[in-house]
Amino acid sequence: MSKSKMSKARRRKIAIWSTFLVLSLSLALPLASYSIHWLGMSATAQDASSAVNPRSDLWRAIRGGEPGYSAVKGEGANVLVQSGGEDWRQFKEGALLKNLPWAIVGMAVLLLLYHLFHGKNKLVERHLSGRMVPRWNVFERMVHWITAFSFIVLAITGISLLLGKNLLIPVLGKAGFASWASASMTIHNVIGPIFTIGIALMIIMWIWHNFPTVTDLKWFAKGGGLFGKAHPSAGRMNGGEKVWFWILMTLGVAVCISGVILVSPIYPQITIPGLDAARSMMQQASAVHAIAAVIWTAIALGHIYIGTAGTEGAIQGMATGYVTEEWAAQHHDLWLEDMHRDGKVLLPGEPRGAQNQRGTVFGPEKPLQLGTVYERTD
Ligand code: HEM
Repeated sequence: MSKSKMSKARRRKIAIWSTFLVLSLSLALPLASYSIHWLGMSATAQDASSAVNPRSDLWRAIRGGEPGYSAVKGEGANVLVQSGGEDWRQFKEGALLKNLPWAIVGMAVLLLLYHLFHGKNKLVERHLSGRMVPRWNVFERMVHWITAFSFIVLAITGISLLLGKNLLIPVLGKAGFASWASASMTIHNVIGPIFTIGIALMIIMWIWHNFPTVTDLKWFAKGGGLFGKAHPSAGRMNGGEKVWFWILMTLGVAVCISGVILVSPIYPQITIPGLDAARSMMQQASAVHAIAAVIWTAIALGHIYIGTAGTEGAIQGMATGYVTEEWAAQHHDLWLEDMHRDGKVLLPGEPRGAQNQRGTVFGPEKPLQLGTVYERTD
């Protein structure tokens, strides 16, 4: 089997296994609630037939004529009606639950239509030189995949909590959903802080590569190569990746900060100084968290599609750290020129990492003729 065929088979294997992993996770996680239930762990839903009514203290105090009794202890004990709570409930049951989740469905339909009518963005140059370009180092890949995996788990558990009442009770039943909702909450609270660290690291690692340039404007003017045959010029990150990065910087940071506020009562050590967990702040944080997270999830579907089924060879870079010279020339030609200039391109047969041992600038014997295979835009 030739080298190029082997790498193609490997790429297909990686794509199939990652799709399989994501699909099986999304099916297995909600069903895991049954195992929790069967293992005898108690559901958190209140059982109407339970012998002890948790509200009995309140009624005992009221019937006993005890003055100033409140079932709520601590902050807010003297507030009879917190009307912000009712506004928040109406917003959540209305706009949030009825309209926003359609953004995710809409994005999935758009991507499906794009894939059906346009298909995968294939590598134009089918003859591979064997020269490889290092794109992501081990640390970058580790951070990316831990964050990506956390994102998927958070999206599944978060959507279960937001829409579960309507979507999962008909499937799992009330007891099954109660167990799953409880497990979802715990998983969400534990993975959330790990994910937040991942986002912070991504920002520190990649912000330097994501400031907009004139090349990005030209890239957008050409539709980013999504339609037609042009492959607009791009540096290490193209215009689309930069937009994704700034979404992460805005929506992502909003999701993480609001999440930290929401989780702070159970992780007292990460409470933000000066912020008390007052109810109105929790309600605002909860609204920001849900809105930003749902919109972000819809956009993330686009990123995941482009990184897997949408672009041939992209996932190979994030999986192995290296891309073929042909892929780099098609998608990031200006970056490839820099890599050639800096002697970072590996020749066929050279071991991975050899580019770091070279002290001097090193060019390939036969540089790829950029501009002959691809339509150059500058
Ligand atoms: C299973 C899900 C995912 C897949 C398959 C995936 C795939 C990829 C691939 C292939 C690249 C490299 C693109 C290139 O070489 O040009 C990439 C880059 C990147 N990914 Fe993901 N990704 C996933 C999830 C995520 C998530 C959830 C986040 C953030 C929350 C994320 C953030 C990023 C960022 C920030 C970059 C670098 C782009 C830039 O800095 O502009 N990815 N991803």
